[in-house]
Amino acid sequence: MPSAGAGKAGTADWYRNFGTVDAPASSPCYAEWSVGIADDPELIGRIERWPHNKRQPLLILAAARFLGAKITPYAEFREFLMARWDEVSRIVLSRATQTNEAGRCATLLPSLAAIAGSTGRPLALIEVGASAGLALYPDRYVYEYDDGASVTRLAPRTRDSSPTAAGGPPVLRCTVKGGVPLPAELPEVVWRAGIDLNPLDISDPDDVAWLEALIWPEQDFRRDRLRRAIAIAQQDPPLLVAGDLNEQVESLARQAPQDATLVVFHSAVMAYLDSSQREAFRSTISRLAAERGCHWLSNEGHTVLAQADGSTVVPEMDEARLRGRFLLVQDGLPVAIAGPHGQTLEWLWGSFPG
Ligand SMILES: C[S@@+](CC[C@H](N)C(=O)[O-])C[C@H]1O[C@@H](n2cnc3c(N)ncnc32)[C@H](O)[C@@H]1O
Repeated sequence: MPSAGAGKAGTADWYRNFGTVDAPASSPCYAEWSVGIADDPELIGRIERWPHNKRQPLLILAAARFLGAKITPYAEFREFLMARWDEVSRIVLSRATQTNEAGRCATLLPSLAAIAGSTGRPLALIEVGASAGLALYPDRYVYEYDDGASVTRLAPRTRDSSPTAAGGPPVLRCTVKGGVPLPAELPEVVWRAGIDLNPLDISDPDDVAWLEALIWPEQDFRRDRLRRAIAIAQQDPPLLVAGDLNEQVESLARQAPQDATLVVFHSAVMAYLDSSQREAFRSTISRLAAERGCHWLSNEGHTVLAQADGSTVVPEMDEARLRGRFLLVQDGLPVAIAGPHGQTLEWLWGSFPG
């Protein structure tokens, strides 16, 4: 994900911020490596020879992991980087941060089920910025919502939960708060498609290895979830269109079955767009809503709330309340605050706003 930390402060500060603020809670290894790089003028100099959009910490760290870097102290990691610099460079320059997190389906599911319920029709899904398309299978995963007092488990109909090579569907665990309106069953999805500038192919071992490398070293549970989600998607690969979301979404929407309720959704994507591209996307969605009855789910971090003119997309939301989490916005209305990987969901209303 692009980071605002790369502004005028410079590359070393970007790595120091990543190593001291973003990484420590999830990856002590990435925290140590990133601070090590921040304090290493030779490496900072090498990184600054790459184009600006290739200098983000996660990209070089994932490239090293892709090449086999193990969890080690910084000194050993540095030796690895120096010895393999040409390969690291090649991967950094040819790849992008495209983490695909199936866990986000847990925070999208209540809204998807409510939309299907309100229209009485099955869903047709379009995810923009879909990466490998793993969030297009909300009807195929298992969910466990924990409100502190009890756990609500939701599972696909038997046909969909057949064992896979990875051992069965991922179980998406989500801690809920504030009366999340959980559905009684998973919604039916009759059509699914995605758009990405660079769709990743779950049948390509290199792309799958890159998806694994993007998961932070200590997060084995996320790697297991990824493998299980990939196995589900491999049984019925998604339709993925290569291109810019603003250029592709209307023509893809025309391919969706007319008798299904169309939902366009996105997670962790809008930060890659500038404010005019985001504005164009909002206009397109409004048009699709008017012409096609399309619904819209946006699951994005605070960086996309503030607009170029100083206004904010969601004036009633205080940025500080998000603290690294995502705001879930349904048809333009904020409904929940979501953990960035789908691990938590805090509802903002007693139920769905009328
Ligand atoms: C951080 S990934 C998130 C992937 C997925 N939405 C998820 O939640 O797992 C962001 C994705 O957005 C894609 N992307 C960025 N800008 C885009 C654009 N203008 N049009 C289409 N896709 C874009 C990137 O290629 C990348 O795969």
